[in-house]
Amino acid sequence: MRDMHCHILPGVDDGARNLQESLAMLEAAKAAGITSIVCTPHVRDPYFDYDAMWDAYDLLCAHANGFPIQMGWEVNHSKLMELGMEWADYLCFEGGKEFLLELSSRCQKHHFQEYERTIFELQSRGYQVIIAHPERYRAIQDDIEIARDLVKMGCKLQASADFVAGGRLGREKKPAKRLFEENLYTYIASDAHNVEHYQLFAEARSTYRTRGKHAAL
Ligand SMILES: [Fe+2]
Repeated sequence: MRDMHCHILPGVDDGARNLQESLAMLEAAKAAGITSIVCTPHVRDPYFDYDAMWDAYDLLCAHANGFPIQMGWEVNHSKLMELGMEWADYLCFEGGKEFLLELSSRCQKHHFQEYERTIFELQSRGYQVIIAHPERYRAIQDDIEIARDLVKMGCKLQASADFVAGGRLGREKKPAKRLFEENLYTYIASDAHNVEHYQLFAEARSTYRTRGKHAAL
């Protein structure tokens, strides 16, 4: 079972602060049944440092005793606009075409015109766009039709497991339940910033189903 969104890299964002914490998270991930991890540090201010993140990845790999770890990124839409679309090639999952896109949690419906342009652009470049934690976005909380449209466009939706405890902003549980009821999610990921988040991941995985039998892989 792959965890395709977490902040396990040491000292590069608001996740693990050092290698010791990263390795504790790795153990917690294994205990939660995870068999491979995509490391997805924040591509947004004030964290983004491409070289430092690769260095952190190399450090973790060197201490992971062969556990399957892949480099990836959680790309904030505004930051991508600032960097330019030519950066997309550097910010997809290592060795693949998956692209984890984070939108603004305060977004409103009209922002999706721009988001959709970006998604089409990424898709035309051959990327599989994965939308990180749609349950966290204000516009989707207000109107689930937006999430349906994202799925129709070919996006995959990823739930962050902490919704079971209310979510990062404390208002994600209800919208997440609706998205599960409508079978709109493809993935549940830990979005782990610390050890405790893996317990929530195990809880979410045991309680909620995603699209298709291999959906969590
Ligand atoms: Fe995240």
